[in-house]
Amino acid sequence: MSKNPLLPTSNLTIPKTLVIGQDSFVGGALYTCYKKQYPGIVATSRDKNKTDSFFLDLNNPSLTKLNLTSKNFSQAVICAGITDIAYCEKHPDLSYKINVVGVLETARQLAKHGIKPICFSTDIVFDGLQNIYLDNSNPAPLNEYAKQKAELEKKLPSVCGPNHLILRISKTYSTLYADNTLLSEIIKKFTEKQIISAATDLYFRPLEKDDLINAILNLQSINATGIFNLCGPTLMSWYEIASAIGNSFSFCPELVKKIKIDSLNSCFQRPKKLNLCANRFEALFPNFKFQSIEESILKIKLNFPEEIPHENTSRRT
Ligand SMILES: NC(=O)c1ccc[n+]([C@@H]2O[C@H](COP(=O)([O-])OP(=O)(O)OC[C@H]3O[C@@H](n4cnc5c(N)ncnc54)[C@H](OP(=O)(O)O)[C@@H]3O)[C@@H](O)[C@H]2O)c1
Repeated sequence: MSKNPLLPTSNLTIPKTLVIGQDSFVGGALYTCYKKQYPGIVATSRDKNKTDSFFLDLNNPSLTKLNLTSKNFSQAVICAGITDIAYCEKHPDLSYKINVVGVLETARQLAKHGIKPICFSTDIVFDGLQNIYLDNSNPAPLNEYAKQKAELEKKLPSVCGPNHLILRISKTYSTLYADNTLLSEIIKKFTEKQIISAATDLYFRPLEKDDLINAILNLQSINATGIFNLCGPTLMSWYEIASAIGNSFSFCPELVKKIKIDSLNSCFQRPKKLNLCANRFEALFPNFKFQSIEESILKIKLNFPEEIPHENTSRRT
């Protein structure tokens, strides 16, 4: 965990929280934290073979078997969903049924038991045309995934009343090499001497996973409600991120190829400048420091496995 002064190990009161989607990137990390505080706590998965969790499919969600009244959850974090943007674009009806209908129905059932639902939205709900996006900025989605998240944001209050939390997060990565997220994927391409097509015109504020988890735990501990933007401290392009990694590891710079994002001819439209601002969160937690890409690169260097071939590299650590 990071060196943030507001850690779960301090005096944070973490409510007993049900994780819907234990196998997700974010849900798995949260579940680990909740388990430390509440050993034996249960979660849900759509993997029927899992013995330590309850089966839940957002296609037809039912929390009945969980017997919620006996478990004393006060909050639930809904991490499951279809997160592949291209898949949502190609399968709008199916993904809508999961990401909007399924999540709202799950939230409705939770609220009926007095459990506060926590749902995830994305910086992609914005069109990227404004200079900055605050917590109360109006969504203007450009693709199907973003439309679904914008609809979720809009409808959640009518389904469960004011006792809910929506976390609108930017692209999240970890500093673990094995997680296959933003940094490790770029590092892998460098080590395999693949060309890295890095957009110079696609900007966002990458968010480190431990920071996200700590931010969520802090918001939970004060029983925060409504919409919160959560993002990293710096607006960066893919090209700047790839170059920063290349410089830090002394990878071959010629592997990074500058492109314009539209040249990829993707099946969905992307907002080009997602300058999210976590102003509501920062006002509540002025001492919370989100880590920069540079700090994260230093951390992932420590986790870099020695056995991966990396000719043309000279690691400095
Ligand atoms: N990670 C990010 O950078 C990011 C950024 C913005 C917003 N978000 C949002 O944050 C939330 C968590 O994201 P994440 O990255 O942790 O997700 P993730 O790792 O992609 O995991 C999504 C999970 O949902 C499960 N799932 C898919 N369809 C399901 C269904 N019908 N019923 C039950 N489970 C289903 C998947 O199960 P299988 O493993 O079986 O497919 C997978 O475990 C999502 O709402 C996402 O949209 C994430």
